[in-house]
Amino acid sequence: MKTPEIQATSHSPLANMEEWEDFLTTRYPDPGANSAKPFVATDPEKKKEQFRNYEADARPTVREFYRQNHLHQTYEFALAKRKEFLTLNRRQMGIWEALEYLNTLVDDSDPDTDLSQLEHLLQTAEHIRQDGHPRWFILSGLIHDIGKILCLWGEPQWAVVGDTFPTGCRYSDKIVFPQYFAANPDSQNPRFQTPLGVYEEGCGLHQVQLSWGHDEYIYNVAKDFLPDEALYMLRYHSFYAWHREGEYQQLTNARDREMLPWVQKFNPYDLYTKNHAKPDVKALRPFYDDLIAEYFPAKLNW
Ligand SMILES: [Fe+2]
Ligand SMILES: [Fe+2]
Repeated sequence: MKTPEIQATSHSPLANMEEWEDFLTTRYPDPGANSAKPFVATDPEKKKEQFRNYEADARPTVREFYRQNHLHQTYEFALAKRKEFLTLNRRQMGIWEALEYLNTLVDDSDPDTDLSQLEHLLQTAEHIRQDGHPRWFILSGLIHDIGKILCLWGEPQWAVVGDTFPTGCRYSDKIVFPQYFAANPDSQNPRFQTPLGVYEEGCGLHQVQLSWGHDEYIYNVAKDFLPDEALYMLRYHSFYAWHREGEYQQLTNARDREMLPWVQKFNPYDLYTKNHAKPDVKALRPFYDDLIAEYFPAKLNW
């Protein structure tokens, strides 16, 4: 029987990319309404139980999305996409221009209830601002998902969104739907299936080829312009196995461990600010124009 939720195009199982993020909020529920603290599991058994339930309860579209992601994101693929996109010679755009470009992403969501990409970004940024965080932190909130413009250049959903994970070494079983890695060709390569794989112990995450997606892309666009704390937030915000599950310690260095709390501080703003009132884009624009101009040139390479 055909499941109505599954979309027709095989590369776009999700009706919109928010479906993946909605799944994340059920998998990692808000630990407290006013809490911007990282999620801490006190009862590992309970957590395990919940983890299983989230998989069982996941929509067929989300399940299919993870199946494709875990199947196709190989070490070679992660390397090849860096080569293809990180030349940043596609176009020149200012940050706000890129936000508007991102907003042309059409999805099948209900326009009355769902936020546009720009609205999600402004909402994230506004909550960070309301909590009195530094200006670069607010700016990170504003731009963290701009890398989803990769979809506008024909990249499939599984190569743009989804939890990121290290390629070239053993998969953590804390990654959601770990069973789908069995079909990834790297699973058959013994070199990639040890805890360190192709890496050296403590080499630092900057040496690790995470699965390719919107995090790595925006990190590279922004890397000359923002402080390290902000760059960690951009680069690792989807690396849940690390920042929520504490996995892959063997690959981290002292700098990663020092920066981890910032990634964790950012995560609740990404996940738990969507059910609030829609931001007034026009009214907020002047504040963000100033903020963008403080850190970025008028045009950047994408
Ligand atoms: Fe994201
Ligand atoms: Fe986001």
